[in-house]
Amino acid sequence: MSAPKRYTVTSALPYANGPLHVGHIAGAYLPGDIYVRYLRQRGHDVVYVCGSDEHGAAITIQAKKEGTTPQAIIDKYHEINKQAFKDLGIDFDIYHRTSSELHRETASNYFKDLYDKGVFEERETEQYYDEDFSQFLADRYIVGTCPNCGNDNAYGDQCEKCGTTLSPDELISPRSMLSNKPPVKRLTKHWYLPLNQYEDWLRSWIIKGEGRTEEWKTNVAGQCRSWIEQGLHPRSITRDLDWGVPVPLPGAEGKVLYVWLDAPIGYISATKQWAVDNGKQWEPYWKDADTKLVHFIGKDNIVFHCIIFPVILKANDYILPTNVPANEFMNLEGRKLSTSRNWAVWVHEYLRDFPGQEDVLRYYLCSNMPETKDSEFTWADFQAKNNNELVATLGNFVNRVMVLTHKYFDGKVPATDALQSEGRVWQSILGQYTKVEDAIEAYEFKNAQAEMINLARFGNQYLTKEEPWKTIKTNPEAAAAVLFDCLQIINHIAIIGQPFLPFTSQKIRQQLNATAVPVEWNAQYVQLPTGHALNQPELLFSKIEDETIQQQVDTLHASQPMTTPTEEKGAIETTASLYEPMKAEIVFDDFAKIDLRAGTILTAEKVEKADKLLKFTVDLGFEQRTIVSGVAMHFTPEQCVGQRVSIVANLAPRKLKGIESQGMILLAEDSAGKLYFTEPTVGAPNGAVIR
Ligand code: 2FM
Ligand code: ZN
Repeated sequence: MSAPKRYTVTSALPYANGPLHVGHIAGAYLPGDIYVRYLRQRGHDVVYVCGSDEHGAAITIQAKKEGTTPQAIIDKYHEINKQAFKDLGIDFDIYHRTSSELHRETASNYFKDLYDKGVFEERETEQYYDEDFSQFLADRYIVGTCPNCGNDNAYGDQCEKCGTTLSPDELISPRSMLSNKPPVKRLTKHWYLPLNQYEDWLRSWIIKGEGRTEEWKTNVAGQCRSWIEQGLHPRSITRDLDWGVPVPLPGAEGKVLYVWLDAPIGYISATKQWAVDNGKQWEPYWKDADTKLVHFIGKDNIVFHCIIFPVILKANDYILPTNVPANEFMNLEGRKLSTSRNWAVWVHEYLRDFPGQEDVLRYYLCSNMPETKDSEFTWADFQAKNNNELVATLGNFVNRVMVLTHKYFDGKVPATDALQSEGRVWQSILGQYTKVEDAIEAYEFKNAQAEMINLARFGNQYLTKEEPWKTIKTNPEAAAAVLFDCLQIINHIAIIGQPFLPFTSQKIRQQLNATAVPVEWNAQYVQLPTGHALNQPELLFSKIEDETIQQQVDTLHASQPMTTPTEEKGAIETTASLYEPMKAEIVFDDFAKIDLRAGTILTAEKVEKADKLLKFTVDLGFEQRTIVSGVAMHFTPEQCVGQRVSIVANLAPRKLKGIESQGMILLAEDSAGKLYFTEPTVGAPNGAVIR
């Protein structure tokens, strides 16, 4: 493609079945946002779309877990996630919903067009069925052992441990997610996308690169290649479910489009809605060959965006993606990020705990982006990057220059020979523009951000070397020239830094009194003129103390069950059933070792600097015990006082936040993570043995 005329950029539509965590952001949203902010700054015509993925088993299963309706689930998480993106500065042109009428109509028509062209095959096959729940079991409704890696919690459509795409029939020892029982088989009719017919084309397009204008990342090309080389088969693109876009054909009652057909069409319907809202045409963004389409996703979405969606785009004469720069995964403190295990840094909680520090998270996630391999979020590293780079390099440089200019030049850009200034710092500034541009256009956002911060590093070194606070006494012209140069550098940091640190960029421009000028990339040729009055300096970043970090680490650990990180290592993000599987059988003697007692909570109070802990005094009849428990997110102290409880009385004491906990309160937890006290048998006095 010669220079594209317009850009359509998408970030994976997250399921509206839970809140967003830092792994989501680092994977598919921050890179998309940086890319788009940069394109906009260059004046390109770009639409950046995203929205909630609101269909499929991910939603209906979550509704069952939370004991509510799918509609209530999507309404709740759509709003939470939309707000979290906005607050973090992820600047979509539209954040749409696949439950919207426009989307249902778009997806339905898209399917119908393909059907009318004869693209699909109709097949009647036997599929797994749960007789207890009178439901067919597809995708996440069926779990079993992965034939590839032996993981016994693989889903019917994918093993999340090894990434293999599966069909329910491939699972070893399948069981229903609903009843946890082995399913039976029943006859049902579905429509299939014959991927096998597209195999030759996919080989030439993906493997040989014919018709492509950009190289794809090694991880992306590699996954596609192995998929194609294993041989492509027809894939069912409808489901027996009551939640989704109905199949628009006679005789298809009770059937909906497969969520992985419906969701990517969500990119198109989002563009349509954006066009309606902004008086634009949507077609050029999806149909004109001079449009560049880029999908930002995580690695678990590769086959859907590189093989299945392109096949249906091609079949309907839409454009194909120019690139799909998928990221690998981000881990957290040595373990896989996990929504169901609550092992996560939630975006909305971060924004609550670190108000005004959105860019700190953006900066840290970008500097640690899992571009070529999995990466690791640690709170200690987050603190170090803030304190050593944002505070000590960028913030410090801007502040020193602002303060000195106010002190010596009345807060105005000093007078100097501007041409000479170009000779001193211009090459360095321009050099950084080129490096940042090259890196962004190669989808290397980590490098791009590092080059942006290098400009601040350069400025800091220049200022330190030239010492205008000394030369002001001996050679005021020299001091004026250096501060003039440094103010230009700061102005360019605000421009180059805008895609990465949009809030900071805006604050810098505010201090420079330059917000009236649009942040255009080619403003690189613009100088802040002599005499331009600056606003007052304000600190851009502040040091994050050890205590704040410790609090986050404690909060993360406090909600965890008492397994060790080694046991959890490699644990995968899956809930194999609505009911937790049974543990291995034990003999009576094992049970008899546990001393269970009836008790009553006498006092309850919050533990300082530990959001999740409550400290209890429990009456066991023969004595009172102090017990610390991670339930503060579930119960207020007032709700606990007077509560009858069952206690493990002979558990070795352990210290939590410096308090010795002398036993454990038994709690029941449902599959949505809600806790319940387990009351001893009615009327049992405190201290009574439970056996
Ligand atoms: O993996 C996911 O979270 C999916 N909801 C992504 C969908 S991307 C697109 F196809 F909409
Ligand atoms: Zn597997």
